Amino acid sequence: MSIDRPRISKRIAAISESATLAVDAKAKALKAAGRPVIGFGAGEPDFPTPGYIVEAAVAACSVPRFHKYTPAGGLPELRAAIAEKTERDSGYKVEASQVLVTNGGKQAVYEAFAALLDPGDEVLVPTPYWTTYPESIKLAGGVPVDVVADETTGYKVSVDQLEAARTDRTKVLLFVSPSNPTGAVYSRAEIEAIGRWADEHGLWVVTDEIYEHLVYGDAEFHSMPVVVPELADRTVVLNGVAKTYAMTGWRVGWLIGPADVVKAAANLQSHATSNVANVSQAAAIAAVTGDLSAVAEMRTSFDRRRRTIVRMLNEIPGVVCPEPEGAFYAYPSVKELLGKEIRGKRPETSVELAALILEEAEVALVPGEAFGTPGYFRLSYALGDDDLVEGVSRVAKLLSEAG
Ligand SMILES: Cc1ncc(COP(=O)(O)O)c(C=O)c1O
Repeated sequence: MSIDRPRISKRIAAISESATLAVDAKAKALKAAGRPVIGFGAGEPDFPTPGYIVEAAVAACSVPRFHKYTPAGGLPELRAAIAEKTERDSGYKVEASQVLVTNGGKQAVYEAFAALLDPGDEVLVPTPYWTTYPESIKLAGGVPVDVVADETTGYKVSVDQLEAARTDRTKVLLFVSPSNPTGAVYSRAEIEAIGRWADEHGLWVVTDEIYEHLVYGDAEFHSMPVVVPELADRTVVLNGVAKTYAMTGWRVGWLIGPADVVKAAANLQSHATSNVANVSQAAAIAAVTGDLSAVAEMRTSFDRRRRTIVRMLNEIPGVVCPEPEGAFYAYPSVKELLGKEIRGKRPETSVELAALILEEAEVALVPGEAFGTPGYFRLSYALGDDDLVEGVSRVAKLLSEAG
């Protein structure tokens, strides 16, 4: 006798595959099959992890303490080092006990929302958003509420827009600067206005600072609870080593919050994954206690590529790309090109146009649908200069056929 129940739970069946990882996987598979694909999909630096960090990990392999379980919330020495690093880099003073070490920034995102949200609680999500946020909000029972900003404001939301989206169910404001996918960086004054508004309405703030060291030109990074200290008791800061130290594969992130949130998230983590791999934590200690010269070097390369990619994209008729001021992404609008004929096809959406570009120009980019705004592409410029120029040239050649 069969019982008519879905094989996969509704909660998990509703989660979609990470579109950015899917594009990257497809590009890598085509490459492995011998096609000369150039990928703009990956959200990771193309540099190796600095040698001194790798050496710390190698040494950690032979420390017997690291062969065993360690505290689920993180090695005490790493939590202390993260607290110190946070004060050094953003001016936010926190205790080591306010830091929870997680399996990458992604687990910190998931645990922050799981710890804060009850079913039906709304989270204001500046959109375009990084694709993981709405999924982790929904998984926690919350309701993501998109607050959309477009290229005319450099993809930055205003207090008026946030206020228009606020209801009595709004519990959390998500804030990300520099932003993935747009590279937008909010000024100190903008952060202050948004932070004061959140405080006035008793909202919580989950602020993702993972790109804190990747800002260009005159742009500056500012941490919201430093700019608006009154928010500290209702703020969760998310961060990690992935982007700053080219350590995406090591899986070390963290969240910083008030004691009750950190305790709740640590309880969850103690049942889900326990401690982060100790060898990775030892590498992270070397990273956050070391200097910032490696990220300074990466920043110089990213800045050069940023200027090249923005110039080349804006030279393509029908493409509009505001200058990103942080992270390593460009987010051009391709709305004017949709519905036009290219090589016998008439792509109506950015998903269809991205598929055509992959097929015809052998270039992988992520369509805006993945970030809540159809009609755009995200291009990561964390790839070699020559590949970047060749890839965008191929796209330009193809798109110039649009008629
Ligand atoms: C905005 C943002 N936050 C957090 C993360 C998580 O990074 P990880 O889980 O690799 O530490 C990423 C990665 O792409 C990101 O772009």
